[in-house]
Amino acid sequence: MESSNTQNNTYAKGLEGVIAAETEIGFVDGQEGRLVYRGYDISVLSENSNYEEISYLLNFGKLPNRKQMTEYLEQMRANSEVPQDTYDLIQTYGKKAHPMVTLRTVISNLASYDPRESDSSIENQKRIAISIIAKMPAIVGAIHRTILGKDILKSRSELSYAGSFLYYALGRNPDPVETKIMDTALMLHADHGMNASTFSALVTISTLADIYSATTSAISTLKGPLHGGANERALKMIMDIGSPEKAGPYLEAMVARKEKIMGFGHRVYKVYDPRAKILKKYASYISEKSDKKSIFETANKVEEIMINKLGEKGIFPNVDFYSGMIYYSMGLTPEIFTPIFALGRISGWTARSLEYLQNNKLFRPKALYVGERGPKTYISIQERQ
Ligand code: ACO
Repeated sequence: MESSNTQNNTYAKGLEGVIAAETEIGFVDGQEGRLVYRGYDISVLSENSNYEEISYLLNFGKLPNRKQMTEYLEQMRANSEVPQDTYDLIQTYGKKAHPMVTLRTVISNLASYDPRESDSSIENQKRIAISIIAKMPAIVGAIHRTILGKDILKSRSELSYAGSFLYYALGRNPDPVETKIMDTALMLHADHGMNASTFSALVTISTLADIYSATTSAISTLKGPLHGGANERALKMIMDIGSPEKAGPYLEAMVARKEKIMGFGHRVYKVYDPRAKILKKYASYISEKSDKKSIFETANKVEEIMINKLGEKGIFPNVDFYSGMIYYSMGLTPEIFTPIFALGRISGWTARSLEYLQNNKLFRPKALYVGERGPKTYISIQERQ
């Protein structure tokens, strides 16, 4: 950690290692390779649960009983309809805008239909959270259709969260296995500690702005290549390599050029990312089913070489290494990969924003001034050199 102590104030670049909030929602154990949502291990949840339950768990504090689940699904259904203006906006942005630009614009725009967006009571902000979560599958699906130059599909509320997204995105009914795999990917992306996008959501909600604003901040932050986006680049690298026998020389050349291998390494995990472990088995299945087996075989070889080379430095595959090839094998275009990350993370962003709001404190860190202290003499523009 790069830090220094100045006049009793600790400076930590990028806030690395600084604890800025308390949370009961989830934690990441980078040494043990555990991701936990409210006490449940992600490996247990991904086997037994589904995205809707996880969304409830994160936002309401415990797994729902049957009645609570029915009510939550009812609320989701009642809120899932997307205004026609939103679809029009998605089409206006079309192919010319980055899909994350389109996504943040339409989520921000939803606030314009809500006369109560500024009421910062927890109940009202929770209502907004559910309304956004419920609309995300149709919105991200519509952005995918627009990128492909295809018609946008409208309401299909009888499908699950993951299933309806695949329907909206692909224009066909997904099979149960595809739905389970997408459901798992969304569960694995739902929350991940105080990452940059979650932090930006908290900064925004701490001003008593609303959940539309917090979510828009989070989406903007996720857009950056250091946060979302590595899965698209990992897939591109594997496709560039082309076959398992070319992996060795390709990676040697990258290492010699001191380039980072996409989909490897993690700021927190110094062991195998538990999410990558779960996705790997699905990547194997779906790539074989969709005639993209060579992509998985190449990836497997890349993993083997990388672990031999860099495993002892704590560099292992991360969640992005296998998620891209899963989405691609399902027929999803790489430009939509980061919005799919947002589709999963939305429940974590809202849960953490609502939690922070209940014990709110405006974020206001300080910066270390390293400029001139003066006082300097002001010289008019006519006399300035
Ligand atoms: N390939 C090759 N070497 C690597 C990689 C990698 N992917 N990741 C880290 N290293 C090496 C660095 O070169 C460095 O070596 P050195 O000590 O000899 O200089 C050492 O490991 C430490 O690297 P840092 O970048 O300081 O490690 P940090 O923990 O800060 O980086 C990060 C984490 C940014 C994710 C990095 O591993 C990386 O850039 N990975 C590739 C991009 C990627 O996959 N990002 C997705 C992360 S998961 C997510 O956001 C959902």
